[in-house]
Amino acid sequence: MRTEQPQVIYLKDYQAPEYLIDETHLTFELFEDHSLVHAQLLMRRNPARGEGLPPLVLNGQQLQLVSVQLDDQALSAGDYQLDDDSLTLHPKAQTFTLDTTVKIHPESNTALEGLYKSGSMYCTQCEAEGFRKITYYLDRPDVMSTFTTTVIAEQHRYPILLSNGNPIGSGPADDGRHWATWEDPFKKPAYLFALVAGDLWCVEDTFTRQSGRDVALRIYVEPENIDKCQHAMVSLKKSMRWDEEVYGREYDLDIFMIVAVNDFNMGAMENKGLNIFNSSCVLARAETATDAAHQRVEGVVAHEYFHNWTGNRITCRDWFQLSLKEGFTVFRDAEFSADMNSRTVKRIEDVAYLRTHQFAEDAGPMAHPVRPDSFIEISNFYTLTIYEKGAEVVGMVRTLLGAEGFRKGSDLYFERHDGQAVTCDDFIKAMEDANGVDLTQFKRWYSQAGTPRLEVSEDYDSTAQRYSLTFRQSCPQTPDKREKLPFVIPVALGLLDAEGNDLPLRLDGEASAQGSSRVLSLTEAEQTFIFLDIAAKPLPSLLRGFSAPVKLSFPYNRDQLMFLMQHDSDGFNRWEAGQQLSVQVLQELIGQHQAGQPLSLDPRLITALATVIGNDALDPAMVAEMLSLPGEAYLTEISQVADVDAIHAAREFARKQIAEQLFDALWSRYQANREVSRRTPYVAAAEHFARRSLQNIALSYLMLSGKPQVLAATLEQFKDSDNMTERLTALAVVVNSPFEAERAEVLQAFAEHFKDNPLVMDQWFSVQAASSLPGGLARVKALMQHPAFTLKNPNKVRALIGAFAGQNLVNFHAADGSGYRFLADLVIELNALNPQIASRQLAPLTRWRKYDSARQALMKAELERILASGTLSSDVYEVVSKSLA
Ligand code: TRP
Ligand code: ZN
Repeated sequence: MRTEQPQVIYLKDYQAPEYLIDETHLTFELFEDHSLVHAQLLMRRNPARGEGLPPLVLNGQQLQLVSVQLDDQALSAGDYQLDDDSLTLHPKAQTFTLDTTVKIHPESNTALEGLYKSGSMYCTQCEAEGFRKITYYLDRPDVMSTFTTTVIAEQHRYPILLSNGNPIGSGPADDGRHWATWEDPFKKPAYLFALVAGDLWCVEDTFTRQSGRDVALRIYVEPENIDKCQHAMVSLKKSMRWDEEVYGREYDLDIFMIVAVNDFNMGAMENKGLNIFNSSCVLARAETATDAAHQRVEGVVAHEYFHNWTGNRITCRDWFQLSLKEGFTVFRDAEFSADMNSRTVKRIEDVAYLRTHQFAEDAGPMAHPVRPDSFIEISNFYTLTIYEKGAEVVGMVRTLLGAEGFRKGSDLYFERHDGQAVTCDDFIKAMEDANGVDLTQFKRWYSQAGTPRLEVSEDYDSTAQRYSLTFRQSCPQTPDKREKLPFVIPVALGLLDAEGNDLPLRLDGEASAQGSSRVLSLTEAEQTFIFLDIAAKPLPSLLRGFSAPVKLSFPYNRDQLMFLMQHDSDGFNRWEAGQQLSVQVLQELIGQHQAGQPLSLDPRLITALATVIGNDALDPAMVAEMLSLPGEAYLTEISQVADVDAIHAAREFARKQIAEQLFDALWSRYQANREVSRRTPYVAAAEHFARRSLQNIALSYLMLSGKPQVLAATLEQFKDSDNMTERLTALAVVVNSPFEAERAEVLQAFAEHFKDNPLVMDQWFSVQAASSLPGGLARVKALMQHPAFTLKNPNKVRALIGAFAGQNLVNFHAADGSGYRFLADLVIELNALNPQIASRQLAPLTRWRKYDSARQALMKAELERILASGTLSSDVYEVVSKSLA
């Protein structure tokens, strides 16, 4: 916890380190009531910072200094200065060895940062600045060192002792203890350090590199989970092959390990050679993990593995460059998932997520550029903007350069910067140099916050057979109050004729047409493109594949959107047309609700969806996506002032109408797919995900009819299915239904069956927390008393509190402010336990500007109460103070 006002750190103040660390030798002695860390650092003056020997300021927090020695000289209190977060020494030579011993308390570390215990195992989380809670160090990513690590612990409780790199020795020690030493020859920043000690089992495999050498692969888990590692192992091997084939990147050490831990602040961490994962991102088998969970495991395993090149071999110079590794790595894992499954479905999911959550962040008080200019607490900047928008920025580079040009750029980037700590500018420079292009203006995507708007208008001249599109871009003001200059916006588009075919595209000034789907590169605030030889007025298909993270508007009418839904050659835009149609229809219903009028659904939405459901040729996953109405959170994001109750009422009304009017079609598709599921053993592959997603969305509509045959089918699916995807959907469908007795029954049966599986119990909590039935807060409060719930486990907090505040919008935003008060109380409690989790759970309250004045006042009052509640962590302080500013 901070003792002074937290300081703002600025990118413009960056300076190279005064000293470097060439070798780091660590010895950990783990005891039940404390641990000792001995560090020997081989250091030298950084020649880039010139002559002279300034004070050496090492980072350190919550460390108890036992001894410190510079070369042969043991230091005493007068020789150094200690404060809450640093140790200052006075070196006497250009090159020296520093030895320290500190005492720490992993056994009582609830922040889950640094060295801590998860259940009976020790593990670490050092990114971003956790290593300073382990030992005094230059804890910044541009200080890169080799590491040798010895772990000494009780043999019986901790038979497995792991760290980064290769094992180089092990043996018994006194008092029933033992030791193991690991050596990592690759220089790395301290944030990539990892240590694990526990009673773990492992699944082993090997991977043969393109160059012919074998890598040993191991996934370590608690013994009861040994049967849930296969999917992660298969995903790992696919990732390794993919990175060789698509980026020419081989793995470098002889061993690659993953460890699953139950208490983890984020998804997973790419520590060199020893990835540490939230167990939710490793463990998966049919009976206990949904299709979504299987895909998440595949994606996160790939993400962390890909960091070995984009993050570890080439790392960030400073934390302002975080998106250099995260944006690029998210882009890489998304491409991998697209290649392994359905590309269009993956794109739809990612765009829906980006538009709902990143756009909201970019429009809120924590808005920041992909490369921020300042921060108070770096942990608060592991955001949707850094990750998801950062990935979109990398994707736009590829769209502009083409796949081949992009690969030339990435090859040059890896060759030029291997072993270095670099910046986003270095990445773009490699892309520029490899392709002979100038991306100066493009780089505004890194420095300007906010989601650009793109207004498009058309003009057709039938005598000249010319069709023109005019694009006007603008970017809303963000809290930094900086002027926004035009972005480079790649717009992929096509023009459809009356039959729905793509027209050949010839721009004014071109001798002939160049393809029928092409990318226009916008660079001006306003720009017009003229297409020639257009015999009749076409219908434009704009921003195909969502080629840029912008809010595009074009005055489509509903009939045009229905036409695009059926005919657009771009699958993403077929879905997008359906979403835009749904938004128009839902906004009309919202207006009716607000005006106190009876709700009346535009029948064209039913017609459009009937065509989709009836289309057997369409990928069932696409049918499922197209049947999914825009979520309440997305409808909130696109509202000027979000009327939570009207949004909920309108969307539920539309869903019920769809269920009733399309009952027969939904019922037959449900039954046909359930029938296949019944006789097909579970397979985690795209076509099976597709079938189950259609089956399950159909079921969730059907239950809205309240018909007894649907209840019976749901209960049958709940009882008889062999996999969590079908079972959990059945559970959720009953929980959200009016059938009270059955609700209690299935919840009870599910909990009884899965009480020993914490990840499954997380799902059980989430389904109930997200249920929009009245009385949501009381249910959540009651569930907090359940023996399986604890505030100390981040997965539990996310499953119950996160799902309530983030998904159960009508209950969370109850007009009496009870949801806000509840969340604020929790944030205050979590602030003392786990600041990173406290700060993340706060996000829904920071969006107060979106709501009516009564709710605004209630939300602000809770933020003010948090601010006044005592000493806040820098994490919570930053988010609360910026939200109120
Ligand atoms: N670098 C991790 C990733 O792959 C992110 C991460 C894991 C993290 N644990 C963390 C960030 C704890 C901050 C704090 O994206
Ligand atoms: Zn990452």
